[in-house]
Amino acid sequence: MMDPDDLAIGIIAGLLEARTGQRLTDDRRWRIAPALSGLFRERGIASNQDLVVLLTQPDESSLAQDVVEALLNNETYFFRDRSVFDYIGETLLPRLASERAKSKKLTIWSVGCSSGQETLSLAMMFAEQGKRWDGWEIEILGTDVSSSVLEFARAATYSNFQIQRGLGVAQMLAYFTETEDGWKAQYRLRDRVRYEVHNLLHPAPFPGRFDLILCRNVLLYFDKPVRERAFARLSEALADGGRLVLGGGETVLGRSGWFVPDVERQAVYKHGPLAGQGSPHASAA
Ligand SMILES: C[S@@+](CC[C@H](N)C(=O)[O-])C[C@H]1O[C@@H](n2cnc3c(N)ncnc32)[C@H](O)[C@@H]1O
Repeated sequence: MMDPDDLAIGIIAGLLEARTGQRLTDDRRWRIAPALSGLFRERGIASNQDLVVLLTQPDESSLAQDVVEALLNNETYFFRDRSVFDYIGETLLPRLASERAKSKKLTIWSVGCSSGQETLSLAMMFAEQGKRWDGWEIEILGTDVSSSVLEFARAATYSNFQIQRGLGVAQMLAYFTETEDGWKAQYRLRDRVRYEVHNLLHPAPFPGRFDLILCRNVLLYFDKPVRERAFARLSEALADGGRLVLGGGETVLGRSGWFVPDVERQAVYKHGPLAGQGSPHASAA
């Protein structure tokens, strides 16, 4: 017979996967105990089995979301994989600038943006390129399935540890102001970005709208069918001539009917032959 704790752990991992597509394979299930320890303490929950029982109670509907948010991996930092940001800044943005010179409008989507370091890195890049973007309408949308990370992203205030991860002193002082709560991004950055809760496996927020999509370190733990669905959603969202950027560890994942490599070394993709063919149906995880 199956150990009741293993059974409970399986149910908890199943909840995460059903809500977000993120799969906790057996070798990663050790993460559950440390990730949930704070929630257990707060709610006076003694064991995984007790949690599973509570999850079945009708008046505990917010508990499931709290469990999911605690289990998500939100690791991020400023200018993560610098060379990708260099490539975006030096090659992709100038190219998009000339392609969109008529409309002077650029729309960027950071999918799974976590606590905002990725969106703010993009905003800093535009600020650094200064005059080139005068008169342009630039929108940076950050979305995440976790509302708690987005609350953090909207506050845009980072601890000493967080601010130093990926930023040099000059950038830190130029774009952030020290407050009692930490280093707060200046208005000129915050003004460029907005955030919305969104599950990548749900229909794309603005079909065909985005010139550049960053979806980095989000797909890694999706299984293959879920990944296909995610690519269909991303394809739906990407404008003609737009580019998709994946994470450093995700370069080979991008090869799908939906996308073909543009610059494989940098995990940059463009529309593939399936573009425009609609998403495979399956309710969102
Ligand atoms: C490891 S972080 C990566 C953050 C950032 N993109 C980076 O590369 O530094 C992954 C983020 O994706 C979010 N996420 C996971 N599954 C998601 C889904 N189905 N839809 C939207 N966001 C998701 C998580 O909540 C987390 O904040």
